[in-house]
Formats: sequence, structure tokens, C-alpha cells
Amino acid sequence: MVGKQPCAVLGAGTMGGGIAQFLAAAGCEVFLYDLGEELLSRGMESIRARLGRRVEKGKLTPEAQEEILARIRPVTDLRDLASACWVIEAVVERLDVKKELFAKVEERVDAEAVLATNTSSLSVTSVAANLRRPERLLGLHFFNPAPVMPLVEVVLGARTDLQVAETAAEWICSLGKDPVLVKDTPGFLVNRVARHFHSEAYRIVGEGLADKEQVDRILRGAGYKMGPFELQDLIGVDINYAASVSVYEGFFHDPRFRPHPDQRLLVESGDLGRKTGRGHYAYDG
Ligand SMILES: NC(=O)c1ccc[n+]([C@@H]2O[C@H](COP(=O)([O-])OP(=O)(O)OC[C@H]3O[C@@H](n4cnc5c(N)ncnc54)[C@H](O)[C@@H]3O)[C@@H](O)[C@H]2O)c1
Repeated sequence: MVGKQPCAVLGAGTMGGGIAQFLAAAGCEVFLYDLGEELLSRGMESIRARLGRRVEKGKLTPEAQEEILARIRPVTDLRDLASACWVIEAVVERLDVKKELFAKVEERVDAEAVLATNTSSLSVTSVAANLRRPERLLGLHFFNPAPVMPLVEVVLGARTDLQVAETAAEWICSLGKDPVLVKDTPGFLVNRVARHFHSEAYRIVGEGLADKEQVDRILRGAGYKMGPFELQDLIGVDINYAASVSVYEGFFHDPRFRPHPDQRLLVESGDLGRKTGRGHYAYDG
């Protein structure tokens, strides 16, 4: 079942919009689902703006931009997803919300459709647990920005059919990504390693060894594309904190993964990074 079949993306935020853009640019018809028209308009505007920047740089023609946008159909009714062969969920990082959504989606899509969650750190096994057919749900963990980052972790839940995961990896590879099969362990592979990248940076600042700008600049100098604080602003401070909490809990409160209190403070302040205009740094416009 590999090719350019119709897809659905649930959630039109940072990741859902990015995944929809990637799929549409690869030639797939995409249903983009969110809770309301305004959320969808915002998501579509972000996609248009990202593609517009590619047009300005001469990397995309205006005609290609319109073709990509025309392949994305914003919807607010799950019944519109009936013809989707692949469903990728990218809604808030909450187990209850994801489970409830998949339970509804399962009733509305074809029995052969594959269901995937883009969770950063929740157990894929738990997301699938109450489904009638949990063997067709897996993790497809894209990285931010989804249209650009090649890696996709293909996560095998305890009940995921290996054949489904291998087909999904083949599919995502045929669309130009670089899939890697991983087990369903807290944070999978990348986010588990990344916990220390973020939490040590908080500790360094907390101990007064350097400020945030210095930490980011030094790590960029060491060859990282971004330092931890600017990366958190891109990811979303709340999303990154949710990943920290979920990995900590997933490892039964192993102190190696304990989040830093300043992480929570920033989330509580509502300064969530680029998406709110302010996080570790302030952003204009
Ligand atoms: N931000 C990142 O860098 C990143 C990277 C990889 C994976 N993820 C994961 O992707 C998922 C989404 O993260 P995000 O950063 O895009 O979040 P976001 O806050 O930018 O967007 C979430 C979207 O989901 C929508 N939503 C919430 N509940 C919904 C529901 N019941 N039905 C439909 N839509 C609903 C919201 O309206 C919003 O548009 C999370 O599971 C996150 O852990 C995030």
C-alpha cells in the first residue's frame, strides 16, 4: 500500500501543518482536520507563508505553491476523512485527547487505513490500547520543522503489526523521508537523548555558569544547528516540557530524567516560544 494515497492529518498546529505541507508537496491529497475553522485558517496561513518564503528564495514557483495548497483540504468533520489511507495525528500531547480522537477516527476510516501518532514521548502502546484494531496504529514521529527534517522515527507499539510498521516506513521513505524503526520506549530514541541536552542547559544557567544566549552560542559554535533555548522556542516550551514530564514518568521518576523547575515556570507564564511571540527570547511580529 505504498504510494500517493489520500492522507489525513489531525491537528493544524506546528507539526500538523508541517506534516500536511510535506505530504502535499510530495504529491498526496491531504485532509487537514482541527477543531474549528479559525484554527484551520491559521494553520493554512502558516503553510502558505512557509511556501511563500520558498517562492521568494526561488526554490518554488508560485504555480507549485498553489498546487501544493490546493492538495490540502481543511475539514472540521471527521466523516470527511473516510477515504484516507493514512491518518497522522498531531494534536496536543495529551493521552486522553489522543485516545478519544483515535476512537472516533477508527469508526470513520477504512478497515485497511493505517493510523499513526506523532507523539513526542507518550506511549504508542497506550494510545492504541482501546482501539478495536490496535495492530494498525504506530508512531510516526516527525521532527520540527516537518517539511525540512528528514528523520522520522517509526515507533512499534507493543501490539503494532510489524508488517504495518514496515509498510509505513517504506511509504514515508517513498515520499522522501528517512525512517528509522524504533521500539516504544519513553522518548523513543531522539527525545530520550535530547532530555539531557535541555535539562543540563537549564542547570548550567541555574548555577550561573553562563546565560542562555551564551549557552546557545557556544553549542552552535560546537556544531549544533541550534542551542537548547532557541530550539525550545522553536519546538514550543510547553511541548518540550510535556516531553520531559512524560519521559520522567515513563522511567518511573528516574532522577536522570527529572525536569528542571524553571521549565515548568516558563510554561506557567504562558511564554511558550515563537508561537506566542515570546519564550526564552522575544520575537517581533
Ligand atoms: N513541536 C514540536 O517540535 C514537535 C515535534 C515532534 C512531535 N511533536 C508532537 O506533535 C503533536 C502536536 O504538537 P504541536 O507542536 O504541533 O502542537 P500545537 O499546539 O502547535 O498544535 C496542536 C493542534 O492540535 C489541535 N487540537 C487539539 N485537540 C484536538 C482535537 N481533539 N482534535 C483535533 N485537533 C486538536 C489544536 O487546535 C492545535 O491546532 C504533539 O503530540 C507533540 O508532542 C511536536
